[in-house]
Amino acid sequence: MPMPSEPLPLFPPGFLWGAAASAFQTEGAPDADGKGPSGWDAFAAAGRIKDGADAARGTGFHERYREDVALLAGLGADVFRFSVSWPRVVPGGRGPVNTRGLDFYDRLVDELCAHGVAPAPTLYHWDTPLPLEEAGGWMRRDTAERFAEYAAAVAGRLADRVPLWMTLNEPAEVTLLGYALGEHAPGRRLLFDALPAAHHQLLAHGLAAQALRAAGAAQVGIAVSHSPVRAAGDGEEDRFAAGLYDTLTNHLFSDPLLTGAYPDEDIAALMPGPVADDLAVIAQPLDFYGVNYYHPMLVGAPVPEDAGALGSFAGVGMPEGLPFSLREVDAAERTDFGWPVVPDGLREVLVGLRERHGRRLPPVVVTENGCSYGGTDDQRRIAFLDAHLRALHRAVAEGVDVRGYLTWSLTDNIEWAEGAAQRFGLVHIDYETLARTPKASYRWYRDAIARQKGRP
Ligand code: NOJ
Repeated sequence: MPMPSEPLPLFPPGFLWGAAASAFQTEGAPDADGKGPSGWDAFAAAGRIKDGADAARGTGFHERYREDVALLAGLGADVFRFSVSWPRVVPGGRGPVNTRGLDFYDRLVDELCAHGVAPAPTLYHWDTPLPLEEAGGWMRRDTAERFAEYAAAVAGRLADRVPLWMTLNEPAEVTLLGYALGEHAPGRRLLFDALPAAHHQLLAHGLAAQALRAAGAAQVGIAVSHSPVRAAGDGEEDRFAAGLYDTLTNHLFSDPLLTGAYPDEDIAALMPGPVADDLAVIAQPLDFYGVNYYHPMLVGAPVPEDAGALGSFAGVGMPEGLPFSLREVDAAERTDFGWPVVPDGLREVLVGLRERHGRRLPPVVVTENGCSYGGTDDQRRIAFLDAHLRALHRAVAEGVDVRGYLTWSLTDNIEWAEGAAQRFGLVHIDYETLARTPKASYRWYRDAIARQKGRP
């Protein structure tokens, strides 16, 4: 990808700039102040994470959050998206709230506010309290109800200072990687039987949105992953497979959230519970819709003999028995994770959402976008961010109401099952000392934000 030469075009006044992170990937301190274990803590302890020892320490954010808030302030960030660890707040998943767990987020929110950075918590970024996970996790309706209680407890403590809330992060990945394919916690391989996990997360979102509003929360949204899906060939089988994949990973979530209906009757029929009543709860009006974008997917009909050699989803080979297979998207550039760099996919996703949902699509915030590259002179990350921001600007020019951009991630962190090796940060973490070193991309993003705000 060519290195940026021209300055970025200007985004609308008031556009929000920032960075994102999550609790499990950064906090460490898995037992501090009465925190209970999460499904991800158990997954790490079972050796399912590369470099599991690093996973338990994270980036030391729980101890060092003041350093990271100073880095955000130095960036000129308007917003920091972090997540609240559910088992820090409700260690048993149900029952008493651990006020010492909430105290940490109280201190973090105060520190952010003191530095002029708006706190934007996500209530669920994949760390389910272990007792709930062991009882079936998102396969059970009870988990959605417990989540709403937890949401009320967090909002009761923080709503006076938090302008932007997100209920869930990427329910598609939790369903697919956690419950269908078993590559993420809880490691279940239910394939199509994992669909109730999608429904219960959506229900949890709706119930939590109600609880947040009842507690006086300001703006309520959700962060949903979206990828353009392309068919591997022109044949009917490839087009069918790509359409099914698109439905299961994109529309399965955005349709109920924005229109109150599942994308097709067959899928709705596979969902548990009083589906029509639940859909009314799921389709709570949203103040904003968060989009996480990384790369497009190329999907074809299953090709069993190639299954191991085909493309992957977050590094996961697709098992046999699924009605589709993933192929490598053709791209001139790949990140260190092997993900294709396709900036225009961000524009395509946003314009596609607007076309599909029209006026039902609330203002959009890009809640994640970023790349894994090593080194601190990370010129390729700069080129990635520059190209994606130009694509985002094209979406704005095409009329999509985008209000902000949060890059993934402020610092390097634990990339789930991949451990510490994949580095998505603007700031380098030395996993021996936990020292923070801003990379070239940090300085580039700082200067880009300053220019957007008229401070060249
Ligand atoms: C999306 C997830 O929300 C985040 O936790 C993860 O690190 C990035 N994708 C990169 O894979």
